[in-house]
Amino acid sequence: TVNVDEKWRGCSMEEIHRGLNEFELEHVPPVRPSETHTVLYHCPIREPDNVPPRPLRAHHKWDATHVRLPCSSKSQYPVTAADGSSTIEARWEMIEKALLKPISNSKELQTAILSYNTKYENQWNFRSLHRLFEDDLDESESRVFFEDLLPRIIRLALRLPELVQAPIPLLKQGQCHSVTLSQQQISCLLANAFLCTFPRRNTMKKRSEYSTFPDINFNRLFQSGGKAVIEKIKCICHYFRRVCPTEHDNSNVPTGVVTFTRRSLNTAELPKWAECKAPLGATPLHITSEGTIEDQGSGLLQVDFANKFLGGGVLGGGCVQEEIRFVICPELLISKLFTECLRPTEALLMVGAERFSDYNGYSNTFEWAGNHEDNMPRDSSRRRQTHIVAIDALHFMQSEHQYREDLIKRELNKAYVGFQHLLSTPPPGVASGNWGCGAFGGDARLKALLQLMVCTVTQRPLVYFTFGDADLRDEVHRMHTFLLEHNVCVKDLWNLLISYQSQNMTGNELYNFIYGCISNTLKSEDGITEE
Ligand code: AR6
Repeated sequence: TVNVDEKWRGCSMEEIHRGLNEFELEHVPPVRPSETHTVLYHCPIREPDNVPPRPLRAHHKWDATHVRLPCSSKSQYPVTAADGSSTIEARWEMIEKALLKPISNSKELQTAILSYNTKYENQWNFRSLHRLFEDDLDESESRVFFEDLLPRIIRLALRLPELVQAPIPLLKQGQCHSVTLSQQQISCLLANAFLCTFPRRNTMKKRSEYSTFPDINFNRLFQSGGKAVIEKIKCICHYFRRVCPTEHDNSNVPTGVVTFTRRSLNTAELPKWAECKAPLGATPLHITSEGTIEDQGSGLLQVDFANKFLGGGVLGGGCVQEEIRFVICPELLISKLFTECLRPTEALLMVGAERFSDYNGYSNTFEWAGNHEDNMPRDSSRRRQTHIVAIDALHFMQSEHQYREDLIKRELNKAYVGFQHLLSTPPPGVASGNWGCGAFGGDARLKALLQLMVCTVTQRPLVYFTFGDADLRDEVHRMHTFLLEHNVCVKDLWNLLISYQSQNMTGNELYNFIYGCISNTLKSEDGITEE
């Protein structure tokens, strides 16, 4: 269908949903604890819907396969007294002591945080935090933060020993494992991240224990420059305003749960791209220059244009697709606590995160735009039916590299790990777009075809957001129609893509090359040879 007045091309959203009720669709099995699924609360949940699930009780673990919690009795810290003598103290006691003192401005907050991170006394300077509270917000807003919200964040953080009683496994490379936490547990862990309490997570040294993990303490965010940083902090403060109970009322505490699943495939489990005969035209494509993955992708598998270190620059200066998604849905941030950086055939699926903020702008113009009421219904396990998959594209410094066979294959396999499903029913479609084509410098015309190939193999419809680019929309749509008309299958396109590199053409000639090759093959099949 071509609707010249409309912003979209291809099939309609109704066709994408294939008559399935988007909200009743259970894309993944319910939460059930098992050897490959750690659940941090009592499951099945017995509490009424308006009460958070009860934390599971188990012995803490202080080892290389679990998150080291700041409240563990094993967490200790060297303290130097005024006379120069030094002792080892329980870190949690230091944290409690520092945070229970009155804190009335951002300088005092910095001092409190540094009192249990003394190694960084000369390195940390929470510039952006100071700018937010001293210049950006008016006096009364700042006062409300220090008199009301910060004490609530601190109270929530200090409930860690009660709210997280079972060990949190690290989702390490090569593992297929899920972790489900209650939204309340996540809020408590994030309150700790805000207050920079997680041990062993601050060093930048290579080969330190957590060097293959993302950062989790918020110090780098407070320190990074740029206007977007201040707006990101506003999103996060808004989240805490929504989820931290007040002294006398805990009716705002969220009662749902969120699942994080690391997927890891080995070579034998990956498709053989050069052999796949599925026709690309059979994959429904809705392509639009309007809308975003998070606003228009409900009921679909939504792609996070990720960094292999989950969250990318969200706790630094970064503010593009992944970072924005993580600050408007801050529960996603907790993936950074336990997800080791992704390998080429790995992805992280995040099910159930709630959205708390709206935003305007993008990158340098990003702005917090107030509260967002998330109306997505919950599944039978109390997860919002929002499914987000983090897949990290390759970062191409030199554009021509992306047409290399090994790198094309890497991107196909990465998307395959993300889009793959184990359902017997038709899986919901994928909501994606210019994956790898912003900060990571990829060619959207190529990436659109790669994602179409993967959707064909996984039998999922594709909704593609071109993010304002009408030319891209029309070109990809025209190509999809052409592939359909000529009954081109995955292996044919694979062969064309890998032969493109040897043609020494520039990136923007890819589609002409494909049109040319397929038309020529047809002509020669008809016995018409080119002069
Ligand atoms: N919905 C649909 N499309 C979007 C949206 C949205 N909400 N936001 C952006 N786009 P980018 P990458 C389009 O640069 O190249 C982060 O730091 C828009 O056209 O975020 O894969 C990660 O942590 C944009 O140019 O993704 C990684 O480190 C394009 O998608 C790195 O960036 C690509 O968005 C990943 O970079």
